[in-house]
Amino acid sequence: MSKLAHAQWSSKMTFVLAAAGSAVGLGNIWKFPYMVGESGGAAFVLVYLVCIGLIGLPILIAEWLIGRRGQENPINAMADLAKRGGHFPAWVAVGISGVLGGFLILSFYSVIGGWSLYYTLGSVTGNFSGKDADGIGAVFTGMLGSPGLLLLWHTAFMVLVIGIVARGVTNGLEGAVRTLMPALVILMLVLVGYGITTGHFGEALAFMFSPDWGAVNGEVVLAAMGQAFFTLSLGMGIMMAYGSYLGEDVNLLSTARTVILLDTVIAVLAGLAIFPIVFANGLDLDSGPGLIFVTLPLAFGNMAGGTILGLMFFLLLTFAALTSAISLLEPAVEFMEERTSLSRVAATATCGIGVWLLGILALLSFNLLGDFLILGFNIFDLLDNLTSKILLPLTGLGAVVFAAWCLDRQGVAQELRLSGGAESLWVVVARYIAPLGVIAVFVNSLVG
Ligand code: PFF
Repeated sequence: MSKLAHAQWSSKMTFVLAAAGSAVGLGNIWKFPYMVGESGGAAFVLVYLVCIGLIGLPILIAEWLIGRRGQENPINAMADLAKRGGHFPAWVAVGISGVLGGFLILSFYSVIGGWSLYYTLGSVTGNFSGKDADGIGAVFTGMLGSPGLLLLWHTAFMVLVIGIVARGVTNGLEGAVRTLMPALVILMLVLVGYGITTGHFGEALAFMFSPDWGAVNGEVVLAAMGQAFFTLSLGMGIMMAYGSYLGEDVNLLSTARTVILLDTVIAVLAGLAIFPIVFANGLDLDSGPGLIFVTLPLAFGNMAGGTILGLMFFLLLTFAALTSAISLLEPAVEFMEERTSLSRVAATATCGIGVWLLGILALLSFNLLGDFLILGFNIFDLLDNLTSKILLPLTGLGAVVFAAWCLDRQGVAQELRLSGGAESLWVVVARYIAPLGVIAVFVNSLVG
């Protein structure tokens, strides 16, 4: 596709919806609560919120700036911008590692998307009704123990992703995001309401917001920063790719605030929905990736209208996962389409099948390959840790350093509609606070 023909978002709203669709996903509802549970609660939450504000916000804007100027896939955009500005050609590495990160993440993301599909079906067939915590836990461990079942649902999820991406990024999804995102927020509020009726809401609130600072160590801070990158879809070229479809009229700062607020509200609501159920049923706080797949079916099995609410919840979760998954595949597809002679459909199929194959290794970590460890991690955990804790922060660091130090300061100020003190603040945050923050977290996690 030539630069001139490069598509544009049909409107500002469309862009906000697509960016929010990418950000809000399994990271908010599945991953955030279990990481809070594993990492000791409020201390993690507060470090996470600081990372979102001081690191996530500037990096999100940096990625959009680069994408909008480059008007191409992340790899070409970085290569072109570096060349135009007379900077090291090596900056292209930021684009490459972004595209690679999206590819690696989607492989395990799709496995969890598959769980969500399976639970959607399970809600319809009454698989969870009338079961106690042990019964619900057995459904989950039964699923993990069956490679065939996991493969079936991972495949179904990837087929959906490939089908949608092959049709092109601007086709059709925005309308769905516009309706379904508010529906998701309302349903989360209903679940928080249920959490209040368990009588353990206060305990959950304290767990999430009353910190035990003694629990903070390098590992917790690194996990919180990784989660901030993951949840905002940063460091993967995705926001750069989306920025490349962006017209000049969009206000990046206010759009970033909107996306971040929505993303954070949904994650916090997920925590407030889940922890009361954990406390009420004496479940393990650190039960890991299974946390929502055990707690929420338990709640749905015990509340009036639980079957229909359960169905709606898992449908919406699947939908949120799909809109994020699409954005994970998009940069790689965009790159292949623009660099090779492959058609969009062929490029999507090629990338999608690669992701699907890697996903098979990830899903086997829960059963046949459970004992196969690399650096002490099974393949699923390795993909997750390698991307969230290393690849995404490093790529995001590269993006913010490039945007803040290599793009012309005046042009960026105009583009962000900033002047005076606000512009200086942007420069301080983007040039120093965000990059040094990322580096400090790395160093801190290495020493302890
Ligand atoms: N941000 C999405 C979530 O929180 O589920 C997932 C995601 C999408 C992660 C895109 C990474 C990404 F590049």
